[in-house]
Amino acid sequence: MRIYRAKDYEEMSRRAAGIVSAQIIMKPDCVLGLATGSTPVGLYKQLIEWYRNGDLDFSGVRTVNLDEYKGISRENDPAGNTHLPDGMEPDSEKECRRYEELIRSMGSVDLQLLGIGHNGHIGFNEPSDVFDKQVHCVNLTQSTIEANKRFFASAEDVPKQAYTMGIQTIMRSKKILIMANGEGKADIVRDS
Ligand code: PGA
Repeated sequence: MRIYRAKDYEEMSRRAAGIVSAQIIMKPDCVLGLATGSTPVGLYKQLIEWYRNGDLDFSGVRTVNLDEYKGISRENDPAGNTHLPDGMEPDSEKECRRYEELIRSMGSVDLQLLGIGHNGHIGFNEPSDVFDKQVHCVNLTQSTIEANKRFFASAEDVPKQAYTMGIQTIMRSKKILIMANGEGKADIVRDS
């Protein structure tokens, strides 16, 4: 494991974007595992800038998203090379099986991006979850609902369940890049 320290959010985002772009340049048809949340926003903005400048080519890249709320529909249809759990599929078992099989059919994820929750959750895998899980449906804990209500009108609007890659799915990735920033994450970074 390598630990990079950055002086602030901008530097962290640029360095992380550098790691992602190196992956794309080394293997233009790579599979990237993408994370949501606020942490990777700066990284994505940097990648967009490099793409717009013509320095980065995503045409061969395929992506799989780490997780999705159950019951949330897509605002946009993702393009052909981008994949995420279907939050509108009510049959959890069916959707988890479909998504796990889809990830396997793409071969290994070359580089998986991750954030980490204040309580140490990875994707929607809470710290107490067992490590051998594949894609599964989780009941969100109150602390995760509280932490994520900032993305919704109110805590009541946060879905109560989500589909997430399991730790086993994540650990099959060839490389993993976990990003954490801000004082609020200091304790969990120290304890991880
Ligand atoms: P954040 O979320 O990037 O918005 O802090 C991280 C997470 O909960 O995994």
